[in-house]
Amino acid sequence: MDKYKLRKAEPKDVPDILRLIKELAKYEDMEDQVRLTEKELLEDGFGDQPFYHCIVAESQGEESGPKVIGFAMYYFTYDPWIGKLLYLEDFFIMHEYRGLGIGSEVLKHLSLTAMKTRCSSMHFIVAEDNKKSIEFYKRRGAEDLSQEEGWRLFRFDSDSLVKMSTPAEE
Ligand code: ACO
Repeated sequence: MDKYKLRKAEPKDVPDILRLIKELAKYEDMEDQVRLTEKELLEDGFGDQPFYHCIVAESQGEESGPKVIGFAMYYFTYDPWIGKLLYLEDFFIMHEYRGLGIGSEVLKHLSLTAMKTRCSSMHFIVAEDNKKSIEFYKRRGAEDLSQEEGWRLFRFDSDSLVKMSTPAEE
């Protein structure tokens, strides 16, 4: 296996991050839902107030040069019961590099980040039919909160937001 390293994403990584976001969406059979552009990813992650953080796994091929082969996108959020949380939004390692321990290294890195920033836990959602990933997380101690506590994920889409924010006609 080529050597690899984990590093903080830089603006130059945006095309690779978008490529991997699309690969993960494809893996989840939802590729057509990705509307984000490189411009938005760049503005939202690398401006004065980043909306997300990202680490990339980069293989160090001797002949082919460095190549981004995986990423984890996360941000910090807040829970009024337990305080600071690290929210893992997207996590993907390219197919040919899976099963080599890179994903576990990424989780180790995120766990250290969570501890350094005094986050009490790491939250994430997984598609119900992504059994391999669910097992991957469970083997590392993750609890299934939908099953154990009955939480359901909701969304207001932009139509609902427009509707709710528009003053009612007299
Ligand atoms: N593919 C996947 N897993 C394999 C493979 C393989 N070809 N071969 C073996 N495995 C086993 C490993 O033995 C290991 O088992 P363990 O849990 O007993 O240690 C485990 O699967 C993989 O461990 P790692 O090598 O450390 O992790 P990997 O580098 O494969 O990354 C990840 C894990 C990110 C889940 C990766 O498999 C992946 O990208 N999967 C597809 C996309 C996905 O489901 N992403 C997570 C969505 S949920 C979210 O984003 C919050």
